[in-house]
Amino acid sequence: MTVISIANASGSAGKTTLGVTLAALIAQSGITCDLVDFDPQGNATHWAGVDVTAGQPTIADVLEAEIGTVNLTAARHTTAIPGLRVVPVNRDRMEGIELRLSRLTGAEQLLRIALESDDDPAQVTIIDCPGSLGLLTVSALVASEKMLTVTAPGMKELGGLPLIAKTLDKVRKVYRPGLTLAGVVPSIIPPRSAGRHYTDALEQLQGQWTDKVAPAVRRAVRVPESYAAREPLPLYDPTAPVTDDYRQVLTWLTAQGALA
Ligand SMILES: Nc1ncnc2c1ncn2[C@@H]1O[C@H](COP(=O)(O)OP(=O)(O)OP(=O)(O)O)[C@@H](O)[C@H]1O
Ligand SMILES: [Mg+2]
Repeated sequence: MTVISIANASGSAGKTTLGVTLAALIAQSGITCDLVDFDPQGNATHWAGVDVTAGQPTIADVLEAEIGTVNLTAARHTTAIPGLRVVPVNRDRMEGIELRLSRLTGAEQLLRIALESDDDPAQVTIIDCPGSLGLLTVSALVASEKMLTVTAPGMKELGGLPLIAKTLDKVRKVYRPGLTLAGVVPSIIPPRSAGRHYTDALEQLQGQWTDKVAPAVRRAVRVPESYAAREPLPLYDPTAPVTDDYRQVLTWLTAQGALA
C-alpha cells in the first residue's frame, strides 16, 4: 500500500482536482485506490459524488473516536468508478477539528494509526489536504510515503513552494524519515497567448525543481464543469485534452516509482 498526500501552502492551487482525477485514473488502470478527503471544505467528497447521511461515520469520526473504535472501513464509500473508494468529509463534523485535535495527545499520528490498522486497504491511498500547513496537513504527511504538490504558473504561487518543502523536511526529520517529494505538478496553465509571465514562471519552476517537475496540466473549462456534474474528469470527459494531461502526470509518476 502506498499513501500519497497532495499538499500545498495555499488555496485554489489545483490540489483537489489533481487528487480526484489521479485517484479516478489509478482506479481505471486496475489499481485499487482510496481517496481520503482531509479538507473541511469537502470538495473531493462532493466531486466524487459521495453524500454522507446523518450518523454515517466520516474522516472526523475516524480521527476523533477512541483509537480503534471507528475504522476506515466503516467510513468508506464506493463510487461510480470501480476500484475507487472515498473516505468522506462532512463539513459540519469538520468544523473546528484542528482546534479539537490539537488538544489530543499525538494528534498528528492519528491518521497514520488509522491507515496502518486498516483491515481493507487499497493499493494506493491519496489524501487531499486543505490549503494550509496546519495540523491536518502535517498529520496527512506523517501518514504518507510520498507528497505531491501543485502550483499555478505565477511568481506568487511559486513563492509558496519553499514553505511546503520546509514542512515536508520537518515532518521527515521528526516523524517520517522515508517521506519523499513525488513531484510538483504545474496546473491551470493558460494558453501561451495569455502572456509571457506564465511561460517565464514555468521556466523558473523547471530551473528550480528540475526532475521533480511533472508534465503540466492546462487550464480548461472541463474541470469546473466536471466538478459541477459531480463526476471525476475521467468519467465526465475521458477524451478531453485536460484529462489526457492528467494521464501524462500519472504515467510520469508511475515511471518515477511513486505508486510503488
Ligand atoms: N486545469 C484546470 N483548468 C481550469 N480550472 C481549474 C483547473 N484545475 C483547477 N481548476 C479550478 O480552480 C479552482 C481550484 O481548484 P482546486 O479546488 O482543485 O484547488 P485546491 O488547491 O484543492 O483548492 P483548496 O485549497 O480550496 O482546496 C477550482 O474552481 C477548479 O475548478
Ligand atoms: Mg481542495
